[in-house]
Amino acid sequence: MTMMKLDTKHAFLKEDIASYQEKVNVLHEQLMNKTGKGNDFVGWVEWPNAYDKEEFARMKEVAASMREKCDVFVVCGIGGSYLGARAAVEMVNGLYSKDKVEMVFLGNTFSSTYIKQVLDYIADKEVCVNVISKSGTTTETALAFRLLKQFMEEKYGKEEARNRIVATTDKEKGTLKTIADKEGYETFVIPNDIGGRFSVITPVGLFPIAVAGIDIDALMSGVKKAYDDLSSPDLSKNDAYAYAVCRRILENQGKNVEMLVTYEMQMTMVAEWWKQLLGESEGKEEKGNLPTSANFSTDLHSLGQFVQEGKKVLYETLLLINKPALDMTFPHDEENLDGMNYLSGKSLDWVNKMACQGTLEAHEETGGVPNLILTLEDMSAESFGYMCYFFFRACAMTCYLLDINPFNQPGVEVYKKNMFRLLGK
Ligand code: PA5
Repeated sequence: MTMMKLDTKHAFLKEDIASYQEKVNVLHEQLMNKTGKGNDFVGWVEWPNAYDKEEFARMKEVAASMREKCDVFVVCGIGGSYLGARAAVEMVNGLYSKDKVEMVFLGNTFSSTYIKQVLDYIADKEVCVNVISKSGTTTETALAFRLLKQFMEEKYGKEEARNRIVATTDKEKGTLKTIADKEGYETFVIPNDIGGRFSVITPVGLFPIAVAGIDIDALMSGVKKAYDDLSSPDLSKNDAYAYAVCRRILENQGKNVEMLVTYEMQMTMVAEWWKQLLGESEGKEEKGNLPTSANFSTDLHSLGQFVQEGKKVLYETLLLINKPALDMTFPHDEENLDGMNYLSGKSLDWVNKMACQGTLEAHEETGGVPNLILTLEDMSAESFGYMCYFFFRACAMTCYLLDINPFNQPGVEVYKKNMFRLLGK
């Protein structure tokens, strides 16, 4: 049974998904045979079978020893070197986890206020650090890591700091690799042929996720299940490819904005991760849909008005969760002063699902907004792994359908060039 399903009944598709089958067959072959655009970066495709099992076991061991040592685990990275881990930790553990290790994220901003506040916050805690950078030169990460390294060496001394810092970077080259070798840090490898936004299923994501107490064996078993379920290009069986095709059909219908909608607060960072995956992969050559996101019902009280009655530029992709992680029954109140007794005895998840259904009807029927629905079984580690791989395959296919290389990000360099000039680098 597949763990993530697509429903297109509410999407107002004006083309038949099956009419893309021939094209999809060709592009699928290109992806699998490494003959498509950006074929140097398709290591993630076979990763569910090919990942380094020894390194995987070492990650679990080091993660266990870090969990013994620290109250706070600082993940220092940005973009693909941070979003996946944070998305997993929040989705699986929730936003107010009682896990003994608190995850803190740094290296993802130049905000002086944020950086200083984090350093102050961790000052009197037991700290371990994972610095993650494939290039090893990303400025946000390098800046924060210099501060963190000094902080750790002052707090623990050079020797103990070395035992508490792990670097995840290129196997052979880069500034971070040089620092890690010189200082003798434990290191994990970012594979050459896997780009940042596809790297959550490598040590980039897996190591911090393991430190957060999440079962990475289960996560990788979800990845493998998705690999198996999505092995055929048949659009009647492969929902990732069908979703990729739907995005193109909706774009052909003039919808250039895709809003990923979740109904779980702890899925917010998953949406951020998804935005990077789609935005950085597809937004090239003046093509692509703008990926945006909302958390309902919270954002129905802000963006809901636009979705219902604003300019008809968008479609929604609902990312729904079948089984909530937690639930409770709404209590009865004899006085009923708040008039809420109509919900007595109902589960809170049922209320959330009714809000979703009512909103879908409103946006679809009155608002005329197409809705794609993706339903994920639950918010477990296994489902997280499944979902990531599902979106990887969908992302590659949807970009190939646009004749775009999904795996580079040339546009990101422009701001860096200007910034370096201004910084006097
Ligand atoms: O997806 C990508 O490739 C980017 O978002 C990178 O992950 C991000 O820029 C960080 O790069 P690095 O890991 O080299 O520090």
